[in-house]
Amino acid sequence: MTSNESIAELERDARAALGAIDSIENLDAWKVEFLGRKGRLTQVLRGLSSIADIEERRKAGAQANSVKAHLEQTYEAKLRERQQAYLSSVIEGEGLDVTLPARPLPRGRLHPVTQTLRDVLAAFASMGFQVAEGPEIEWDRYNFEALRIPADHPARDMWDTLWIDYEKDGSRSMLLRTHTSPNQVRIMEKTGPPIRVIVPGKCYRFEATDPTHEWMMTQVEGLAVDEGISLSDLKGTLAEFARRIFGRERQVAFRCDYFPFVEPGMELRIDCFICRGEGCRTCHHTGWIEILGAGMVHPEILTNVGYDSERYTGFAFGMGIERIALLRHGVEDIRLFYANDLRFLRQF
Ligand code: DAH
Repeated sequence: MTSNESIAELERDARAALGAIDSIENLDAWKVEFLGRKGRLTQVLRGLSSIADIEERRKAGAQANSVKAHLEQTYEAKLRERQQAYLSSVIEGEGLDVTLPARPLPRGRLHPVTQTLRDVLAAFASMGFQVAEGPEIEWDRYNFEALRIPADHPARDMWDTLWIDYEKDGSRSMLLRTHTSPNQVRIMEKTGPPIRVIVPGKCYRFEATDPTHEWMMTQVEGLAVDEGISLSDLKGTLAEFARRIFGRERQVAFRCDYFPFVEPGMELRIDCFICRGEGCRTCHHTGWIEILGAGMVHPEILTNVGYDSERYTGFAFGMGIERIALLRHGVEDIRLFYANDLRFLRQF
C-alpha cells in the first residue's frame, strides 16, 4: 500500500464516519481518531518521510495537507450543525416562546419630595444662586441666638425644638435644627458679600403630627446679600420662582409677617390654582395660598457677622418643600410622604 492509497483510504473512512455521526460527543471522538495529535492523519503524515522519491513525497505531502484542510472544514460545519440542532431541541423541550413579552422589570423613581426639591433648586440655580449645605445637628447659637432669638424670646415658640444635650447648669446648647435659617449666618461668617445662595436640608420639630405637620421636613433657605439689594429684588426673585413652580399665570402677593431675623418680614402667597379664587379647602376659602416666609435681612445680623450694614443689604427666604409638593400634587396629608406606602409613592 502506497502512502497515496492510505491517504485516500483515510479520507474515505473519515468522511463515512462523519456522515454517520448524530451527537456532539461522537463528533469529539471522531476528531480525536482522525485529526488528533495521535490520530490517523498524524500517522499518515509521519509515514510520508519514508517515501524515498522526493517528487513523490512532495506530492503526497500536498495531498495529505489538502485532505487535512477539507476534513477540518467538514468537521467545523458538522459541529455547527449539531450545536444548532442541540439548541433547537432544548428550546423546543423547554417550550420557550421567544415571542412572548418580557417580564416587567420593577423601575425605581425619585421620591415626590426629592422631585420637588430638585425643581426648586433648579429654579433658583437658573437665577444665579449656588447650592450650599449645613449641619442637621446645630448649636443654639446658630439656630436661635445669632438669628435674634435669645433664650427668653417669645418667638422661640414658633419652633418646638428637639434638644440633644444639656449643659451642667441645666441650659441647653445642642439641638436638631428647626429650620435652615442658621445657614444664613454660617455662610456669611465664612464668606464676604456678594452672596447668592440656597441651602436645602432636613429640619426637625418637636410637635405632634397632623395632615400639615411632620416632625421631620425639608426646607430650602435662600440668601442674597450685596450692595443695593432692595425689596424689589426680593419680590422679583420670588415671584419668578413661584411662577416657575406653579405656572406662569400665577398671581403673587406679599403680606406682612414676623420673623426675628428679617425686617420687614413677609409671606409670599399665590392665587389659589385649585379654585382660581373662588374659595376652597386648600386656600381656606381665602383664594390665596401661603408659599414661604421671607424678608430683608436684619441689619443687626449683618453687623454681627462683620458686614458693613450701611453698605450691604440682603434678602432671605425659607420654605418647606413638603408643603410645596403637597400643593403641586393635590396631596392632602403630609404624613403620606413618609409612610413608605408604595401604592402612594408609585403615583409620582
Ligand atoms: N426659618 C423660617 C421657618 O422655619 C422660614 C423663614 C422665614 C426663613 C423668613 C427666612 C425668612 O429666611 O426670611 O419658619
